[in-house]
Amino acid sequence: MALLSSLVLQVHAQSVPQLGHDPIEKVIAAMTLEEKATLVVGYSHRRPQNALPGGAMIGQTEVKVPGAAGNTAAIPRLGIPSMVLSDGPAGVRIQPIRKGDSTHTYYATAFPVGTLLASTWDPSVVETVGRAFGNEVKEYGIDILLAPGVNIHRNPLNGRNFEYYSEDPLIAGTMAGAFINGIQSNGVGTSIKHFDANNQETNRTSINEIISQRAFRELYLKNFRIAITNSHPWTVMSSYNKVNNTYTAERHDLITTILRDEWGFKGFVMTDWGGGRDWTAEMNAGNDLIMPGSPNQTQAIISAVKHDSISMKMLDLNVAHILNIILKSPSFKKYAYSNQPDLKAHAVVSRKAATEGMILLKNDQQTLPINPAVKKIAVFGNASYFTIAGGTGSGDVNKAYVISLAQGLSNAGYQPDPELQNSIIQFVKDTTAKIKAATPKYHWPAPTPEMIASNSVIAQKATDCDLALITIGRNAGEGSDRNLETNYNLLPGEKQEIKEIAHSFHAKGKKVVIVLNIGGVIDMNDWKDNADAILLAWQPGEEAGNAIADMLSGKVNPSGKLATTFPMHYDDVPSAKYFPGTPAGNPTEVIYKEGIYVGYRYYDSFKIKPMYEFGYGLSYTTFSISGLKLSSTVLKGTITATVKVKNTGKVAGKEVVQLYVTAPDKSIDKPLQELKAFSKTKLLQSGEVQTLTFTIKAADLASYHTDGAEWITDAGKYLLKAGASSRDIRQTASFGVTKTIVTEKDHNVLKPPFPVDELKAPAR
Ligand code: BGC
Repeated sequence: MALLSSLVLQVHAQSVPQLGHDPIEKVIAAMTLEEKATLVVGYSHRRPQNALPGGAMIGQTEVKVPGAAGNTAAIPRLGIPSMVLSDGPAGVRIQPIRKGDSTHTYYATAFPVGTLLASTWDPSVVETVGRAFGNEVKEYGIDILLAPGVNIHRNPLNGRNFEYYSEDPLIAGTMAGAFINGIQSNGVGTSIKHFDANNQETNRTSINEIISQRAFRELYLKNFRIAITNSHPWTVMSSYNKVNNTYTAERHDLITTILRDEWGFKGFVMTDWGGGRDWTAEMNAGNDLIMPGSPNQTQAIISAVKHDSISMKMLDLNVAHILNIILKSPSFKKYAYSNQPDLKAHAVVSRKAATEGMILLKNDQQTLPINPAVKKIAVFGNASYFTIAGGTGSGDVNKAYVISLAQGLSNAGYQPDPELQNSIIQFVKDTTAKIKAATPKYHWPAPTPEMIASNSVIAQKATDCDLALITIGRNAGEGSDRNLETNYNLLPGEKQEIKEIAHSFHAKGKKVVIVLNIGGVIDMNDWKDNADAILLAWQPGEEAGNAIADMLSGKVNPSGKLATTFPMHYDDVPSAKYFPGTPAGNPTEVIYKEGIYVGYRYYDSFKIKPMYEFGYGLSYTTFSISGLKLSSTVLKGTITATVKVKNTGKVAGKEVVQLYVTAPDKSIDKPLQELKAFSKTKLLQSGEVQTLTFTIKAADLASYHTDGAEWITDAGKYLLKAGASSRDIRQTASFGVTKTIVTEKDHNVLKPPFPVDELKAPAR
């Protein structure tokens, strides 16, 4: 019997090539057109059984991980398993309870959002998060995580900015690369997204973004390029939007010429869920996989091949890209996942990362860390009790818990005022229930309004308590952008309450601390002066309250810095006039007239003072940055800079040194300065010194010249500035480039349909 079955197996193996045993070309040669068309379209559980002609049993797969965003099709005949794809950037997003059985749960760790991770300015922290997170991906039976999101913070109202990292492509790309390296060290894949220029949610599936080739190359492609070349993600997700008239998923120049030919990407490209319109064009562009997939897409591809609008060669190439990744996947390796990742250990990683990325924005008269004599705290603000771990939509996580700020304070030994606590919790519960009851079916309920304490309550608390703490909470997510009036700005009631709290507490000689529990930049004009200290906690994941208490108490010294500017006024934002496009109300097109002048590149070049500049962040100690030395006064391939950082204060802390370069602007207009390198010190004890080293290559200094599609480093004098922020430069040095260098010649692609009338910085 045993002999017979092994003979049968041998015959089977000989007649039907098997993935992993036979070369991929052989497996592809054995595939029918239907099988190929099935593999390049995701397997949706909504797909009717036997959807293919003749009732072929291909592409069948069981629901392996409930709540995962998608699956690829299995073709058991050829030994091709299905892969599981799951969101998202802040933690694994799957169903936590299956079949009503709450004795076995599938919760995932909520890590801090991307904007906080970027604010650490420490890729090693982000990689550590990635390693823990990737373990959950693997142990929950997932093959590919649909993250990170690396889109540039072009405008603060983008509803998904919290998922993304920065306004600067070097920070965004470096952090995303570290994240991918961490996740993929577990033997699972990532999907860096959304390629490209998915910089707004308003009409995201139809908006046509008109972008110059230079802005693409210097900002919106550079972020992806850095991440992809540093970390080799298994997959890339194209975006929903069009760029320069064509859906990104349908652009051969983007997905094949740039991504594969120029950057050497070897994985596969998938659409965003339901992205694009023309599946034939997507296949021909090199968008290998259509997600989440439907039988009519498979049929369309079969028919396109039969009618020669997709060549078999193209289809085979797309199939090969997918099979190469399947070979590496845990599903292919039949990894026996436990469904029991170490959530306790990962909560520790989440809390630590959160403390590395929180930013101390203001700290008058050393209000923070909280004076040890302070015990009773009047804790205002809904978000103090319902602290926001992360944003909404596919970037949300089904976490087991969120430690509220009030809970975190109690855990740290403080006493949040119980009366305030009870009344705010009750108010939020009642109001949310009322709003839900009044919301029509299938509509999102409106956000719960802030509970505004009465003046008499505030006065009472100023007598009873030692300190006032107010949390300002803001949330947003996939599908819509933030509203300027109600989300970016504080509402009149909120501002009035802050004023009243400041008035009452200051009258009694007591301090007011404000914590910002937000996913994106907000307006700070009308209330900033009322606070003695402001901690930007972002959306810090499930350990939120504990991590915030770590900062407020001084257990951890803040070392985060802004990776995105807080402008003085929304109208100062260079894209404010063009966002989210025209016609107003229901835009179809958005023209990036600000060109390369996004974030600090704009504020610095046009001398606009921000509220808090790029790279800004305070500490409980002070640092000196001195002794900037260059390896040479002339660039010879690379130049190395060293700088000494000394902790000149009383407590241990970490400093981030940022290297900005002012390049000669004779051949083309250039930003006043651009970030070229950065480094964070270890924890320096009082008086301790560390030397940081930075290396810059000729290519790092180049600008993109559209005529000729070339990156050029001009001859001339380069000013190198080492600072604690983009506007707190402590050391400068200069070096020369003796002759102009063309560092790279690219394909002349992604042309806008008409010349973009772009902003240009004044000549210096
Ligand atoms: C989002 C992606 C996400 C996908 C799967 C889309 O709507 O834009 O970021 O990965 O859904 O959930």
